Amino acid sequence: MTQRLYNDLSRLWPIVSPPEEYIPDGALFRDIIRSRLAPSRVTGGRRPRLLELGCGGGHLLSHLTPHFDAEAVDLSPPMLDLSRALNVTTPHHQGDMRSIRLGRLFDVVLIYDAVNYMLSETDLRAAIATAKAHLTQGGLLLLAPDHLTDSFSGPRVIDWNRHSPNEDVTFIEYVADPDPDDTTIESVFFFITNGAGRLEVHQDRHTFGLFPKATWIGLLEEAGFTVEYLATEGYEGDIGGHVFVGDLGDAAPGAAIDNRP
Ligand SMILES: C[S@@+](CC[C@H](N)C(=O)[O-])C[C@H]1O[C@@H](n2cnc3c(N)ncnc32)[C@H](O)[C@@H]1O
Repeated sequence: MTQRLYNDLSRLWPIVSPPEEYIPDGALFRDIIRSRLAPSRVTGGRRPRLLELGCGGGHLLSHLTPHFDAEAVDLSPPMLDLSRALNVTTPHHQGDMRSIRLGRLFDVVLIYDAVNYMLSETDLRAAIATAKAHLTQGGLLLLAPDHLTDSFSGPRVIDWNRHSPNEDVTFIEYVADPDPDDTTIESVFFFITNGAGRLEVHQDRHTFGLFPKATWIGLLEEAGFTVEYLATEGYEGDIGGHVFVGDLGDAAPGAAIDNRP
Protein backbone atom coordinates (compact mmCIF):
# COMPACT_ATOMS: atom_id res chain seq x y z
CA MET A 1 0.00 0.00 0.00
CA THR A 2 1.38 3.43 -0.94
CA GLN A 3 1.92 5.61 2.09
CA ARG A 4 0.60 9.03 1.10
CA LEU A 5 2.66 10.80 3.78
CA TYR A 6 5.83 9.70 1.97
CA ASN A 7 4.49 10.45 -1.50
CA ASP A 8 1.81 12.99 -2.49
CA LEU A 9 1.57 14.37 1.08
CA SER A 10 5.33 14.51 1.74
CA ARG A 11 5.20 18.33 2.07
CA LEU A 12 3.41 17.74 5.39
CA TRP A 13 6.28 15.76 6.96
CA PRO A 14 8.43 18.79 7.94
CA ILE A 15 5.31 20.47 9.33
CA VAL A 16 3.93 17.62 11.47
CA SER A 17 7.34 16.28 12.55
CA PRO A 18 9.89 19.13 12.27
CA PRO A 19 13.66 18.54 12.47
CA GLU A 20 14.05 20.33 15.81
CA GLU A 21 11.93 17.67 17.50
CA TYR A 22 14.73 15.19 16.75
CA ILE A 23 17.42 17.03 18.75
CA PRO A 24 17.11 14.72 21.81
CA ASP A 25 17.23 11.54 19.74
CA GLY A 26 20.13 12.92 17.71
CA ALA A 27 22.08 13.40 20.95
CA LEU A 28 20.98 9.98 22.22
CA PHE A 29 22.21 8.11 19.13
CA ARG A 30 25.43 10.15 18.96
CA ASP A 31 26.18 9.23 22.57
CA ILE A 32 25.23 5.55 22.18
CA ILE A 33 27.52 5.28 19.17
CA ARG A 34 30.43 7.19 20.71
CA SER A 35 30.31 5.15 23.90
CA ARG A 36 30.18 1.77 22.15
CA LEU A 37 32.39 2.09 19.08
CA ALA A 38 36.02 1.20 19.64
CA PRO A 39 37.81 4.44 20.68
CA SER A 40 40.16 4.18 17.69
CA ARG A 41 37.16 4.60 15.38
CA VAL A 42 35.96 7.70 17.17
CA THR A 43 39.29 9.44 17.62
CA GLY A 44 41.34 7.75 14.92
CA GLY A 45 41.73 10.76 12.66
CA ARG A 46 38.50 10.36 10.74
CA ARG A 47 34.86 10.63 11.68
CA PRO A 48 32.97 7.33 11.99
CA ARG A 49 31.02 6.34 8.88
CA LEU A 50 27.26 5.97 9.40
CA LEU A 51 24.59 4.60 7.08
CA GLU A 52 20.93 5.35 7.82
CA LEU A 53 18.41 2.99 6.20
CA GLY A 54 14.98 4.64 5.89
CA CYS A 55 16.15 8.23 6.44
CA GLY A 56 12.76 9.74 5.56
CA GLY A 57 13.00 13.54 5.51
CA GLY A 58 16.45 13.33 7.14
CA HIS A 59 15.29 15.08 10.29
CA LEU A 60 17.13 12.77 12.69
CA LEU A 61 20.03 12.56 10.26
CA SER A 62 20.48 16.34 10.31
CA HIS A 63 21.56 16.04 13.97
CA LEU A 64 24.02 13.22 13.20
CA THR A 65 25.79 14.65 10.14
CA PRO A 66 27.82 17.09 12.30
CA HIS A 67 29.42 14.06 13.99
CA PHE A 68 29.51 11.29 11.39
CA ASP A 69 30.29 10.84 7.69
CA ALA A 70 26.82 9.73 6.70
CA GLU A 71 25.07 8.18 3.74
CA ALA A 72 21.33 7.62 3.57
CA VAL A 73 18.84 5.30 1.91
CA ASP A 74 15.07 5.56 1.53
CA LEU A 75 12.39 3.96 -0.59
CA SER A 76 10.54 7.20 -1.34
CA PRO A 77 11.88 9.76 -3.87
CA PRO A 78 9.91 12.69 -2.34
CA MET A 79 11.29 11.91 1.13
CA LEU A 80 14.81 11.65 -0.30
CA ASP A 81 14.30 15.11 -1.83
CA LEU A 82 13.40 16.50 1.59
CA SER A 83 16.43 14.86 3.17
CA ARG A 84 18.79 16.03 0.42
CA ALA A 85 17.60 19.62 0.97
CA LEU A 86 18.39 19.34 4.69
CA ASN A 87 21.57 17.25 4.46
CA VAL A 88 23.17 18.76 1.40
CA THR A 89 26.57 17.06 1.56
CA THR A 90 25.21 13.59 2.41
CA PRO A 91 25.07 11.02 -0.41
CA HIS A 92 21.50 9.68 -0.72
CA HIS A 93 20.36 6.49 -2.44
CA GLN A 94 16.92 5.27 -3.39
CA GLY A 95 16.34 1.67 -2.39
CA ASP A 96 14.72 -0.89 -0.14
CA MET A 97 16.40 -1.59 3.19
CA ARG A 98 15.66 -5.28 2.67
CA SER A 99 17.74 -5.58 -0.48
CA ILE A 100 19.95 -2.56 -1.26
CA ARG A 101 23.69 -3.18 -1.51
CA LEU A 102 25.89 -0.08 -1.83
CA GLY A 103 29.18 -1.97 -1.97
CA ARG A 104 30.69 0.10 0.85
CA LEU A 105 31.30 -0.53 4.54
CA PHE A 106 30.33 1.64 7.52
CA ASP A 107 31.13 1.73 11.22
CA VAL A 108 27.45 2.12 12.10
CA VAL A 109 24.13 1.25 10.45
CA LEU A 110 21.07 2.95 11.94
CA ILE A 111 17.47 2.00 11.24
CA TYR A 112 15.36 4.37 13.28
CA ASP A 113 11.55 4.63 12.98
CA ALA A 114 11.61 3.26 9.40
CA VAL A 115 12.18 -0.17 10.92
CA ASN A 116 8.47 -0.04 11.87
CA TYR A 117 7.75 -0.88 8.22
CA MET A 118 9.29 -4.34 8.55
CA LEU A 119 6.10 -6.39 8.84
CA SER A 120 7.32 -9.98 9.18
CA GLU A 121 10.32 -11.85 10.54
CA THR A 122 11.34 -12.36 6.90
CA ASP A 123 11.40 -8.56 6.42
CA LEU A 124 13.35 -8.03 9.63
CA ARG A 125 15.89 -10.74 8.76
CA ALA A 126 16.39 -9.11 5.35
CA ALA A 127 16.90 -5.62 6.84
CA ILE A 128 19.37 -7.02 9.38
CA ALA A 129 21.20 -8.81 6.55
CA THR A 130 21.42 -5.52 4.63
CA ALA A 131 22.84 -3.82 7.70
CA LYS A 132 25.39 -6.59 8.22
CA ALA A 133 26.42 -6.43 4.56
CA HIS A 134 27.36 -2.77 5.10
CA LEU A 135 29.22 -3.11 8.43
CA THR A 136 32.93 -3.42 9.10
CA GLN A 137 34.15 -5.87 11.74
CA GLY A 138 33.33 -4.37 15.12
CA GLY A 139 30.58 -2.29 13.54
CA LEU A 140 27.31 -1.41 15.27
CA LEU A 141 23.70 -1.82 14.17
CA LEU A 142 21.10 0.34 15.93
CA LEU A 143 17.40 -0.50 15.58
CA ALA A 144 14.71 1.70 17.16
CA PRO A 145 11.17 0.36 16.77
CA ASP A 146 8.25 2.45 18.03
CA HIS A 147 6.42 -0.51 19.57
CA LEU A 148 7.12 -3.91 21.10
CA THR A 149 4.47 -6.58 21.59
CA ASP A 150 5.51 -6.66 25.26
CA SER A 151 4.27 -3.13 25.93
CA PHE A 152 1.89 -2.17 23.08
CA SER A 153 -1.50 -1.03 24.24
CA GLY A 154 -4.21 -0.04 21.82
CA PRO A 155 -6.40 1.11 20.32
CA ARG A 156 -5.40 4.69 21.01
CA VAL A 157 -5.57 8.15 19.45
CA ILE A 158 -2.69 10.61 19.13
CA ASP A 159 -3.20 14.12 17.82
CA TRP A 160 -1.34 17.37 17.47
CA ASN A 161 -1.48 20.68 15.63
CA ARG A 162 1.39 22.43 13.86
CA HIS A 163 1.79 25.56 11.75
CA SER A 164 3.92 26.43 8.75
CA PRO A 165 4.00 29.89 7.18
CA ASN A 166 1.47 28.66 4.59
CA GLU A 167 -0.56 26.02 6.35
CA ASP A 168 -2.13 25.04 9.64
CA VAL A 169 -2.01 21.24 9.95
CA THR A 170 -3.78 19.00 12.44
CA PHE A 171 -2.60 15.40 12.59
CA ILE A 172 -4.74 12.64 14.10
CA GLU A 173 -3.56 9.02 14.32
CA TYR A 174 -5.68 6.05 15.35
CA VAL A 175 -3.53 3.01 16.06
CA ALA A 176 -4.85 -0.46 16.80
CA ASP A 177 -4.00 -4.14 16.67
CA PRO A 178 -7.00 -5.68 14.91
CA ASP A 179 -5.44 -9.17 14.81
CA PRO A 180 -3.35 -9.83 17.93
CA ASP A 181 -2.17 -13.12 16.41
CA ASP A 182 -0.20 -11.53 13.56
CA THR A 183 2.97 -9.41 13.61
CA THR A 184 1.38 -6.12 12.53
CA ILE A 185 -0.61 -3.17 13.83
CA GLU A 186 -2.60 -0.65 11.79
CA SER A 187 -2.56 3.14 11.88
CA VAL A 188 -5.06 5.45 10.25
CA PHE A 189 -3.80 9.02 9.77
CA PHE A 190 -6.01 12.05 9.21
CA PHE A 191 -4.48 15.36 8.17
CA ILE A 192 -6.67 18.47 8.36
CA THR A 193 -4.93 21.20 6.38
CA ASN A 194 -5.93 24.85 6.37
CA GLY A 195 -4.05 27.06 3.93
CA ALA A 196 -4.47 29.25 0.86
CA GLY A 197 -8.15 29.66 1.70
CA ARG A 198 -8.87 25.91 1.58
CA LEU A 199 -9.74 23.47 4.35
CA GLU A 200 -8.97 19.86 3.36
CA VAL A 201 -9.01 16.43 5.00
CA HIS A 202 -6.56 13.76 3.83
CA GLN A 203 -6.59 10.15 4.95
CA ASP A 204 -3.65 7.73 4.96
CA ARG A 205 -3.14 4.17 6.27
CA HIS A 206 0.07 2.62 7.52
CA THR A 207 0.81 -0.94 8.62
CA PHE A 208 3.62 -1.37 11.14
CA GLY A 209 5.43 -4.46 12.41
CA LEU A 210 4.93 -5.54 16.01
CA PHE A 211 7.35 -8.07 17.49
CA PRO A 212 8.29 -9.16 21.01
CA LYS A 213 11.59 -7.94 22.40
CA ALA A 214 12.79 -11.55 22.31
CA THR A 215 12.26 -11.69 18.53
CA TRP A 216 14.41 -8.58 17.92
CA ILE A 217 17.15 -10.00 20.10
CA GLY A 218 16.85 -13.50 18.59
CA LEU A 219 17.07 -12.30 14.97
CA LEU A 220 20.07 -10.06 15.72
CA GLU A 221 21.86 -12.91 17.51
CA GLU A 222 21.05 -15.30 14.66
CA ALA A 223 22.84 -12.83 12.34
CA GLY A 224 25.94 -12.85 14.54
CA PHE A 225 25.42 -9.71 16.63
CA THR A 226 25.91 -9.40 20.37
CA VAL A 227 22.81 -7.53 21.53
CA GLU A 228 22.14 -4.87 24.12
CA TYR A 229 18.61 -3.53 24.73
CA LEU A 230 18.31 0.07 25.94
CA ALA A 231 15.09 1.50 27.37
CA THR A 232 15.21 5.18 26.43
CA GLU A 233 12.83 8.14 26.54
CA GLY A 234 9.74 7.57 24.38
CA TYR A 235 7.19 10.12 23.25
CA GLU A 236 3.39 10.48 23.43
CA GLY A 237 3.37 8.13 26.40
CA ASP A 238 4.48 4.74 25.14
CA ILE A 239 5.78 5.30 21.61
CA GLY A 240 9.46 4.65 21.00
CA GLY A 241 11.93 4.36 23.83
CA HIS A 242 13.45 1.12 22.53
CA VAL A 243 16.93 0.82 21.08
CA PHE A 244 18.54 -2.50 20.16
CA VAL A 245 22.30 -2.18 19.75
CA GLY A 246 23.88 -5.03 17.80
CA ASP A 247 27.66 -5.28 17.98
CA LEU A 248 29.23 -7.30 15.20
CA GLY A 249 32.43 -7.82 17.20
CA ASP A 250 34.75 -10.11 15.26
CA ALA A 251 31.93 -11.79 13.33
CA ALA A 252 32.58 -11.75 9.59
CA PRO A 253 31.08 -8.68 7.97
CA GLY A 254 29.05 -8.77 4.80
CA ALA A 255 30.26 -9.22 1.28
CA ALA A 256 30.81 -5.54 0.50
CA ILE A 257 34.33 -4.90 -0.71
CA ASP A 258 34.83 -1.38 -2.01
CA ASN A 259 35.52 0.68 1.09
CA ARG A 260 36.76 3.83 -0.62
CA PRO A 261 35.19 7.00 0.75
C1 LIG B 1 8.68 8.02 9.51
S1 LIG B 1 9.60 8.13 8.05
C2 LIG B 1 11.25 8.37 8.66
C3 LIG B 1 11.46 9.77 9.13
C4 LIG B 1 12.87 10.04 9.58
N1 LIG B 1 13.17 9.36 10.83
C5 LIG B 1 13.19 11.52 9.71
O1 LIG B 1 13.93 11.84 10.63
O2 LIG B 1 12.73 12.32 8.89
C6 LIG B 1 9.71 6.44 7.56
C7 LIG B 1 10.46 6.26 6.24
O3 LIG B 1 10.68 4.86 6.03
C8 LIG B 1 10.77 4.69 4.65
N2 LIG B 1 10.66 3.26 4.34
C9 LIG B 1 9.59 2.45 4.56
N3 LIG B 1 9.88 1.20 4.15
C10 LIG B 1 11.15 1.23 3.66
C11 LIG B 1 12.00 0.24 3.09
N4 LIG B 1 11.59 -1.01 2.92
N5 LIG B 1 13.24 0.61 2.70
C12 LIG B 1 13.66 1.90 2.84
N6 LIG B 1 12.89 2.87 3.38
C13 LIG B 1 11.65 2.54 3.78
C14 LIG B 1 9.63 5.53 4.11
O4 LIG B 1 9.78 5.81 2.72
C15 LIG B 1 9.73 6.76 5.00
O5 LIG B 1 10.46 7.79 4.38
